[in-house]
Amino acid sequence: MPAVIEVDNLRKSYGAFVAVDGITFAVQSGECFGLLGPNGAGKTTTIRMLYGFTPRDSGSLRLFGTPCDGAWRLLKGRIGICQQENNLDPDLTVRENLEVFAAYFNLPAAVVHERVASLLRFTALEGREQAGVRDLSGGLMRRLVLARALINEPQLLILDEPTTGLDPQSRHQLWSRLDELKGRGLTTLLTTHYMDEAQRLCDRLVIMDQGRILVEGAPRDLIRQHVGESVIEVVAACDDLRRLVQERALDYEDLGPRLVIYSGDGESLYRELLAEHCHEGCMLRPATLEDVFLRLTGRELRE
Ligand SMILES: Nc1ncnc2c1ncn2[C@@H]1O[C@H](COP(=O)(O)OP(=O)(O)O)[C@@H](O)[C@H]1O
Ligand SMILES: [Mg+2]
Repeated sequence: MPAVIEVDNLRKSYGAFVAVDGITFAVQSGECFGLLGPNGAGKTTTIRMLYGFTPRDSGSLRLFGTPCDGAWRLLKGRIGICQQENNLDPDLTVRENLEVFAAYFNLPAAVVHERVASLLRFTALEGREQAGVRDLSGGLMRRLVLARALINEPQLLILDEPTTGLDPQSRHQLWSRLDELKGRGLTTLLTTHYMDEAQRLCDRLVIMDQGRILVEGAPRDLIRQHVGESVIEVVAACDDLRRLVQERALDYEDLGPRLVIYSGDGESLYRELLAEHCHEGCMLRPATLEDVFLRLTGRELRE
């Protein structure tokens, strides 16, 4: 089976500014693939090129094994997209938003009727179909955007920051919906700023920064390669501890009073530090994707 998405050396500039700087990746059928990166990394621009909203400058793009040039109409029938910006029609009801969107795909009325009912159930929007979009909370709007993206029963679902700003209940609800869709074989491309979300949902992911891909891999492999098994966090490191980490050439980051030590298998080191060097608190925890992300993209604030 061909890869669902094949991106090769994709580039996009706005004037002299390079937003996407030659990225290459492939997403296999049934995978959930993550595009991670700080604000301005080029995630949305990449997605817009994938979907034909933004023309690319160069590079090649294949969806379902088909080169995208000129085949957009055909391809879009197989894709569902939740854009970063909420682009629901504010003048329409929940049901009307779904029906109007379904009209793009020339589906028979009976099919639309059935799909709308089933998607309202799937996204727990039953009983709200007559509500105006303006009256929906952020979480409800996101659910409606997801329902709308599924109206054409896509084989590829693209989600640009689907859970930004949602409360924990809504996030977990969306995750379980995505699990369910994955169980049905849907391929998903996802961007998110929540590393726990990416770690939980993504089979593989890339971390991008400044238009380039820094790393690619399965979350667990990336954590092992770039951080190790565990991390020791020292609340207020004293001078002798700073000396110790230098003398032993430990892998660490000095964050002012706080010291983060990427300790590999940290149990014995942790015990030693706790006994002799940590007067104000010290914690041993499993390494996470967030550690990888911060190590690779730094701690400076972005856009
Ligand atoms: N239409 C545009 N014109 C000029 N610059 C843009 C345009 N769209 C995006 N950019 C810039 O390209 C960079 C990447 O943006 P984007 O792809 O939205 O990043 P991300 O989704 O990773 O936060 C940003 O610096 C953004 O300001
Ligand atoms: Mg974006």
